[in-house]
Amino acid sequence: MKPKIIVTREVFDDAIDHLKQHCEVDANQTDIAYTPDALAAKLVNAQGLMCALTDRVDATLIARSPQLRVVANIAVGYNNIDVPACTARGIQVTNTPGVLDDSTADLAFALMLATARRITEVESYIRKGEWTGWRLKQWLGVDVHHATLGIIGMGRIGQAIARRARGFDMKVIYHNRKPVSPEIEARANAAYRSMDELLAQADFVILQMPYSPETHHLIGAAQMAKMKPGAILINSTRGGVVDDKALVEALKTGVIRAAGLDVFEGEPKLDAGFLALKNVVLAPHIGSSTEATRRAMAMTAATNLVAALNGDKPPNLVNAEVRNR
Ligand code: DGY
Repeated sequence: MKPKIIVTREVFDDAIDHLKQHCEVDANQTDIAYTPDALAAKLVNAQGLMCALTDRVDATLIARSPQLRVVANIAVGYNNIDVPACTARGIQVTNTPGVLDDSTADLAFALMLATARRITEVESYIRKGEWTGWRLKQWLGVDVHHATLGIIGMGRIGQAIARRARGFDMKVIYHNRKPVSPEIEARANAAYRSMDELLAQADFVILQMPYSPETHHLIGAAQMAKMKPGAILINSTRGGVVDDKALVEALKTGVIRAAGLDVFEGEPKLDAGFLALKNVVLAPHIGSSTEATRRAMAMTAATNLVAALNGDKPPNLVNAEVRNR
């Protein structure tokens, strides 16, 4: 008998086809998110779960899923999953690193350019029919080229952002839990700084570290006060690494110049203060959202899930200790 798996959100047909070769698939192609109870009911007799970052896979859900053997997240970040609870039950957890690095780095760069050159402001000005002619001092922005870029979180996506910065002749500095290897630093053309040094020196700060209890509100009022007054903050990683209330205040009072945000605390709800501000560019968590990348993420998750259920080591196993018991 094939193992039963639940797919919580709509995915591409090629991923479903791959899953169907190996599993009995219960796919939610309507894309209406399951409530926790509805998901728990589905998982009562399922061995596999392919889920999205919008699904909370917590200890309660795990306890209600007696047959579960693998949770395959369609995301590189997995803060939606209680990994220790899965590990304690011997459930393998997988993610989708690698396939989304470049698309996510592109979006971070897009937010940086859009905030520096005020693209959303000027677009709305034109659409409203307010443009009456060219003026020398009109819509002045700041230069991205030759500016100092500070990347906090020098993992694969951070490195992909640093590579892009070369083309803009930027000086790249970074902060990470620990410095990356000299080879990676050389490839990224990036120099390590303490957090305070980075905040004081960077014209643009891009956040690319994973969200965890340790990185919750890593950037709050105190850190924004340490940034250059004209600096721009980009959050393209996870809501919660920035204290959004403090950010609204810093943008309102000119503590920093502008922000580009793809993620928010408590998304899809966001602090209403952002909507009233012109110096913020907003995007709805689309960092990895190109067709090729989202397709690759779904297929990577499907491959991980099938490998785990076949008894093979999934290529992107998060909790390797589960297999070493
Ligand atoms: C991820 O993979 O963690 C991204 O946020 C999804 O877009």
